[in-house]
Amino acid sequence: MGLSTIILAAGQGTRMRSDLPKVLQLLAGRPLLGHVLDCAAALAADDVCVVYGHGGEAVKTAFADGSLRWALQAEQLGTGHALQQAMPATPESNRVLVLFGDVPLLTPETCQRLLDETPAGDVAVLSVDMADPTGYGRIIREGNKVSCIVEEKDAGPDEKAVREINTGVLVGPADKMRAWLAGLGNDNAQGEYYLTDVIAMAVNDGVVVHGVKADSWTEVMGINDKKQLAEAERALQARRVDELMHQGVGFADPARVDIRGTLRCGKDVFIDVNAVFEGDVELGDGVKIESNNLVRDCRLGAGTLVHSNCHMEGAQTGNDCEIGPFARLRPGAELANNVKVGNFVEIKKSTVADGSKVNHLTYIGDTEIGTGVNVGAGTITCNYDGVNKHKTTIGDGAFIGSGVELVAPVRIGAGATVGAGATISKDVDDDQLVIERSRQKAIPGWKKPTKKEAE
Ligand code: UD1
Ligand code: CA
Repeated sequence: MGLSTIILAAGQGTRMRSDLPKVLQLLAGRPLLGHVLDCAAALAADDVCVVYGHGGEAVKTAFADGSLRWALQAEQLGTGHALQQAMPATPESNRVLVLFGDVPLLTPETCQRLLDETPAGDVAVLSVDMADPTGYGRIIREGNKVSCIVEEKDAGPDEKAVREINTGVLVGPADKMRAWLAGLGNDNAQGEYYLTDVIAMAVNDGVVVHGVKADSWTEVMGINDKKQLAEAERALQARRVDELMHQGVGFADPARVDIRGTLRCGKDVFIDVNAVFEGDVELGDGVKIESNNLVRDCRLGAGTLVHSNCHMEGAQTGNDCEIGPFARLRPGAELANNVKVGNFVEIKKSTVADGSKVNHLTYIGDTEIGTGVNVGAGTITCNYDGVNKHKTTIGDGAFIGSGVELVAPVRIGAGATVGAGATISKDVDDDQLVIERSRQKAIPGWKKPTKKEAE
């Protein structure tokens, strides 16, 4: 039996007080809906459909990968009406799993359990026990099966006392679901077409309805405002850090790290407080990340040490490099092994070969640096002439003195030495010493300027 995962995402999300549609709000750097789509993808559904409405085009554009089916719910007349919009193109013989664009922490494992525990022709709702169930639909059971769901606004005192609530997530056979949805009315306290009413219809048709409980409330929490968004962010971060600690990664404080993407780590990695990882990051064995670092889409080789306060994006290092404090590695910075990049150094689209050092106050752009090179403090590769970018090449073993400007395109030969303060605009041969600065002059009898009298 095939599986259609249908994600309801048409709600407005007024409480976000944002121009951004609710399901595009970011959780761990990814839109809420993205998390739900990840969950759907992990379930290997043969059909994934998003019911959209508010902010429609923006939502569609954000996930325009072609493999999704979209169903427009032009007017938000209730959850039942929303699901109905997706039914005409849903294969008759499939099971339907209903997820929600604003319930991002639900795991594929829980969904799979819901599917596995429900015989193909039956219906099941995912429920959870809550200390305070106020506001939610209550699960009304007869024996161990579910007989109906009653919304808070339609509930009497006995029903309100029930602490098992409806998460909204449910599974059922597509053909029957379609028939029940077609029969929904909106004669209730909110004048909406309630998806939850299909439960009583199923029971009425002799279909068994199971109630499968989720392990925790966090997993099934819906996000309606920025406060809940922040709560979900913390919960998701805790989940990710737990997983990494389980794999042997050390954290100074598991509550003070943020992973907004994928972080893959080797053995004996240690991460200090306030490290933020974005995109795709890979840390080799024994990598140490000190406090206050942003690492986005980087791959750091084994034994590499990143001191505090670095900003690194699209960079790569070999083994045993040392970076920072206060270094900036930009896209295309590729360091080989044993490279040192010190404070206030920016490196962009450049390669630095084994054992080279760029330790202080330097800009390296569009450059190829050989092995064992020392770049002195305050050196700048002048790679931009105002129109085009040009390349600088520094040969193996070269020594660049402090305060040097290398005006590209330019090549410094292997083993060459450039004296401090030079502005180099012509190539320097191998092993040459080059000095480019005016002779130091002393001006005898020079007087310091004096302050003018006020007129
Ligand atoms: C719904 C359930 C309730 C459950 C609760 C869990 C119904 C009738 N009630 O209530 O039993 O305890 O969720 O949070 O289903 N949506 C649409 N189109 C619509 C209406 C809603 O796409 O016309 C989407 C919303 O974007 C939202 C979700 O469905 O993601 C839930 O809608 P909402 O109106 O918040 O339902 P609740 O009243 O909270
Ligand atoms: Ca809700």
